[in-house]
Amino acid sequence: MAAPLKVLLLENIHALAEEMLKKHGFEVIRADGALKEDELIKKLAGVQLLGIRSKTHVTPRVLEAAPDLLGIGAFCIGTNQIALHAAMKRGVCVFNAPFSNTRSVAELIMAEVIMLSRQLGDRVMEMHQGSWRKVAAGSHEVRGKTLGVVGYGHIGSQVGILAEFFGMRVLYFDTAAKLPLSNNASCPNLETLLTNSDFVTLHVPETPQTKGLIGAAQLAQMKKGACLINASRGTVVDLAALAHVLGNGQLGGAAIDVFPDEPDANSSEGFKTELQGLKNVLLTPHIGGSTLEAQEAIGREVASSLIAFGTAGASVGSVNFPSVELAATPGTYRVVHVHQNVPGVLRDVNRIVSEENGNIHAQVLSTNADIGYLVMDLDSNVSQRVCDAMKRVPTTIHARAL
Ligand code: NAI
Repeated sequence: MAAPLKVLLLENIHALAEEMLKKHGFEVIRADGALKEDELIKKLAGVQLLGIRSKTHVTPRVLEAAPDLLGIGAFCIGTNQIALHAAMKRGVCVFNAPFSNTRSVAELIMAEVIMLSRQLGDRVMEMHQGSWRKVAAGSHEVRGKTLGVVGYGHIGSQVGILAEFFGMRVLYFDTAAKLPLSNNASCPNLETLLTNSDFVTLHVPETPQTKGLIGAAQLAQMKKGACLINASRGTVVDLAALAHVLGNGQLGGAAIDVFPDEPDANSSEGFKTELQGLKNVLLTPHIGGSTLEAQEAIGREVASSLIAFGTAGASVGSVNFPSVELAATPGTYRVVHVHQNVPGVLRDVNRIVSEENGNIHAQVLSTNADIGYLVMDLDSNVSQRVCDAMKRVPTTIHARAL
């Protein structure tokens, strides 16, 4: 029986993750906050799985100094803080939780649609400043209005469904063919969506194609008095152009949650954007996905991935590894093997199995340009010997008997 895998959890990852990992026999240690490179290297001695959020940087130097490390769980959405390619080449499989906060973002968007429609941000601010201004001018119900969703993926499609419950008509535009949900209707191009929507909400990824997707030309295509919402990525909207059309009354309002330059840490002063002080503009500090429910869902999703990887070798959902999953067969003995993707590895593996008098019950291999990932079940309990022999083959990066 192999020793339990040791997991290091940093940055106050949700308690549920620790509970789940322990329940599956992992040894869990925790350290408060993020760790700097040298501290992290020290803490990683003897650790097979690392759990972090966005503030711990896993650099090539950290990876090189952590020969025991097999996997990393990024308990967040982004994985920029991890040297993904270097990790993959060292056989370290990385997981994240891309969709655990989908609902949280969608709910914020619906709140903002109504807030913009009622100029609620301005009224709230006025009341805090002691001013009582009971006005109906410029305030509308959202019922019967048109919401245009740009990017009909996980978040966009969820927003489309929620908006219909409010009696809105929903149009969407996506560069990929997407099945319309409920009564949502697809637009043939962005311009059709922009010219027909009272509210436009952006849910595209950050790519070279989406940089500046909404600039002066697109803003000019929007209906007079329409509102723009961006909770996707800061680079998608040209904020100077947006400030201009908000200032001259072409647009009726905006809700912006993401910015091209976002501070690394919370601070009570110093944040600047050209949108500050404009009427009916809601500014939020990238909180679209920031709810306790999303944190718990992230904890559950990433812990599940680490458990499946640690106990069964499953790499499905990894951001840097070939995807492999093999259903367990009782009475078989599993070996997982990460190797350089060069000719002859399978021949070596099969030779070793036969030299150890093993018989292969099932074998799944998936590769990318650099590495191969093999999960193999043997009929008899020779998995540790097979694994030890595989470790002596120069093309092996990691081998593990489960
Ligand atoms: P997703 O990958 O499920 O959906 C993105 C959709 O955009 C896809 O259907 C894709 O085909 C489409 N798309 C790509 N390029 C396009 C283009 N040029 N024009 C139209 N459609 C295009 O992504 P998901 O999970 O819905 O996330 C959307 C965005 O929300 C991402 O940028 C993500 O980073 C951001 N996000 C923001 C959060 C916040 O706190 N504000 C939290 C979570 C995600």
